[in-house]
Amino acid sequence: MSQDCSGKVALVTGAATGIGRSCAVALAAAGAKLIVTDIDVSGVQETAKMITEAGGQARSLAQDVSQEDVWQELIESIRQHEGQLHVLVNNAGIAIGVPVTQMSLEDWQRQNAINLDGVFLGCKHSIPLMATSGPSSIINISSIAGLIGASGLAGYSASKGGVRLFSKAIANECADNGQAIRCNSVHPGIIDTDIWSREISGIAKDNPDMMTPGGNRVNIDMVAAAGMPNGKPGQPEDIANGIVYLASDASSYVNGTELVIDYAMTAR
Ligand SMILES: NC(=O)c1ccc[n+]([C@@H]2O[C@H](COP(=O)([O-])OP(=O)(O)OC[C@H]3O[C@@H](n4cnc5c(N)ncnc54)[C@H](O)[C@@H]3O)[C@@H](O)[C@H]2O)c1
Repeated sequence: MSQDCSGKVALVTGAATGIGRSCAVALAAAGAKLIVTDIDVSGVQETAKMITEAGGQARSLAQDVSQEDVWQELIESIRQHEGQLHVLVNNAGIAIGVPVTQMSLEDWQRQNAINLDGVFLGCKHSIPLMATSGPSSIINISSIAGLIGASGLAGYSASKGGVRLFSKAIANECADNGQAIRCNSVHPGIIDTDIWSREISGIAKDNPDMMTPGGNRVNIDMVAAAGMPNGKPGQPEDIANGIVYLASDASSYVNGTELVIDYAMTAR
């Protein structure tokens, strides 16, 4: 079966850049009608523009995924404009790299609010609309840090491990309720995006092999050289290809499982 997504309405969060933007562009190229959201309003507008200029359909909206009232407004907007929702990619996330003994409770809670509460709220508010839309697919972006523990990323690992089991429970709950809604998690390895120059940079100061000499930021090529079997980071498109598969009917019997895209990093 092909990975055609024609006729599907897809929502991607955190779509202003990186993996989210790449997923949105790939889903639109596969024929889906896109709603793209992010706290970065100009970035997500640019993503929608890229899609429409390429001949696809997209509209962008501002969204902080940690806010329940914003989720309610967003789903109501989709109900009114598109009338249905078949694909939800819960992608927005942050990575705070800091040893657990130095992590503030505020940072722990902020990270969980985006990475875990955001996924919970997305599922909670999308499922009722999906249930009336026909066969649907929820794709929650976890991480290899949701499969194995990562030093300096304990809080991040906790949030992403939560996403993994939450996704399995949702898959079962929807099936038990007779809803044709699948739910899977995706676990990227080291992917070349801006996340590596944001909060995650905190892990660099205790790991000199992650930093360019004299620099103060994570150098993704050095991280990949140290940790990846092939020594290279993946690209956002490598994740987007997996997401199009999970969104399409080609994966219609794939439910409650994990798609690891890490070039064997966790297979060692
Ligand atoms: N890049 C990697 O190596 C990697 C590996 C494993 C998992 N991931 C996961 O993939 C997802 C995408 O990450 P990325 O690498 O593209 O990162 P990125 O930093 O390039 O993009 C993340 C996007 O999320 C948005 N965002 C942050 N907080 C938000 C909020 N409260 N509400 C809405 N949007 C918000 C940002 O504005 C940004 O556009 C994340 O969930 C991340 O944890 C990334």
